[in-house]
Amino acid sequence: PPKQRLLVVANRLPVSAVRKGEDSWQLEISVGGLVSALLGVKEFDARWIGWAGVNVPDSVGQKALTKALAEKRCIPVFLDEEIVHQYYNGYCNNILWPLFHYLGLPQEDRLATTRSFQSQFDAYKKANQMFADVVHEHYQEGDVVWCHDYHLMFLPKCLKEHNKKMKVGWFLHTPFPSSEIHRTLPSRSELLRSVLAADLVGFHTYDYARHFVSACTRILGLEGTPEGVENQGKLTRVAAFPIGIDSDRFIRALELPQVQDHMKELKERFAGRKVMLGVDRLDMIKGIPQKILAFEKFLEENLNWRDKVVLLQIAVPTRTDVPEYQKLTSQVHEIVGRINGRFGTLTAVPIHHLDRSLDFHALCALYAVTDVALVTSLRDGMNLVSYEFVACQASKKGVLILSEFAGAAQSLGAGAILVNPWNITEVAASIGYALNMAADEREKRHHHNFMHVTTHTSQEWAATFVSELNDTIVEAQLRT
Ligand code: UDP
Ligand code: G6P
Repeated sequence: PPKQRLLVVANRLPVSAVRKGEDSWQLEISVGGLVSALLGVKEFDARWIGWAGVNVPDSVGQKALTKALAEKRCIPVFLDEEIVHQYYNGYCNNILWPLFHYLGLPQEDRLATTRSFQSQFDAYKKANQMFADVVHEHYQEGDVVWCHDYHLMFLPKCLKEHNKKMKVGWFLHTPFPSSEIHRTLPSRSELLRSVLAADLVGFHTYDYARHFVSACTRILGLEGTPEGVENQGKLTRVAAFPIGIDSDRFIRALELPQVQDHMKELKERFAGRKVMLGVDRLDMIKGIPQKILAFEKFLEENLNWRDKVVLLQIAVPTRTDVPEYQKLTSQVHEIVGRINGRFGTLTAVPIHHLDRSLDFHALCALYAVTDVALVTSLRDGMNLVSYEFVACQASKKGVLILSEFAGAAQSLGAGAILVNPWNITEVAASIGYALNMAADEREKRHHHNFMHVTTHTSQEWAATFVSELNDTIVEAQLRT
């Protein structure tokens, strides 16, 4: 049978564009869990609709970029600078993102944000409508339209208003917070109602799904059922679909000569020292300062480890036009500098902090040579870095220290050492425990996680979501 046609709509396309000339573009793979997960989706006849990450004011540039993206099955949505400022930097990343991760607004931004709220929300709706317009242009009857993440909570409503028969799913890649948090949003009801226009709404964990349903019952007064949310006889199905990774892609990469060479180099470079690794976008939800302070405490308390362990922190720059992210960058640099000054020697420093991204093969090599991975998210929808680390550890069987506030704690909890990232004493103790762990315990823990990561893949995740969406629609037709 022909593959199911799928329109994947997300703010971020899998490739971001860099302009090289009037009509020439270079495409680079975008960084982030959403893009990584969706790259593993191969069973569908899929097209991607989204923003290429650049402002393209001229029609020559737009035409050339549209053509370049078409080769990657991507379709651009062009957002101008003002919309990006208000919708992406403002409403999405300064309001929704911190709120959904229980971080609240920074004190000094609170009043300013309160004042600009309405104009940012208007821009958000306008941007969502622009995505909807592009979907309508490319939609064919029978297509499944799968909307992603907090950027596009308005999209299901825009799509259904235009075409009631469209099959629409929406998936959130972040946590959905307790209704007590969601309540504080001035646009709380409008956002919930527009998401409910979808046929199927998905989350990474059962907790997030439950929070969403109780927000709908408490804030909108609707009825929540085990199946989802009911509104005047219409059911919106709500369920948990934990995401995974394309584990084979990582396992296969480790066999490549270039990756093997790179691993050898890394092993030589850090010979005699245990390697600890952090890989995060430089985002406040990742708890990077907390992680580094815990590492400092560990060094303070364990003199014997000082020249025998190194922490490699890959901190990928992200959302750099948002002031909170700029502040975080300087804060992290300051702490790293202080600790390296304190514990470094003429020939070695305890922390290697990189403000850059790595390509896929370099990342695989790094995962494979790591002894202990540290994921200290204060909140995280799932956290795929933890999955990727496990996939690359078949021979080394290193230890994963994982925040209990990452969605992944629910699936990798039995194999990882779970920590509360706010408790630096606990994290420091866990570092010691992980570094000293006996081989048989490491093996047992690794086996548990490896089984999970290799059997819960991104392909399966997407297939389950789409088939559930198709079923939901059949059931709805039977009911009426
Ligand atoms: N990543 C990458 N290059 C890097 C660092 C990270 O491609 O230099 C990828 C990483 O492989 C992972 C994703 O970025 O797939 C991060 O996903 P995660 O779910 O851990 O966090 P998110 O960034 O979505 O919050
Ligand atoms: C998280 C979000 C994604 C986003 C990614 C990178 O994973 O859930 O929607 O794409 O971060 O952030 P960016 O703002 O660069 O797209």
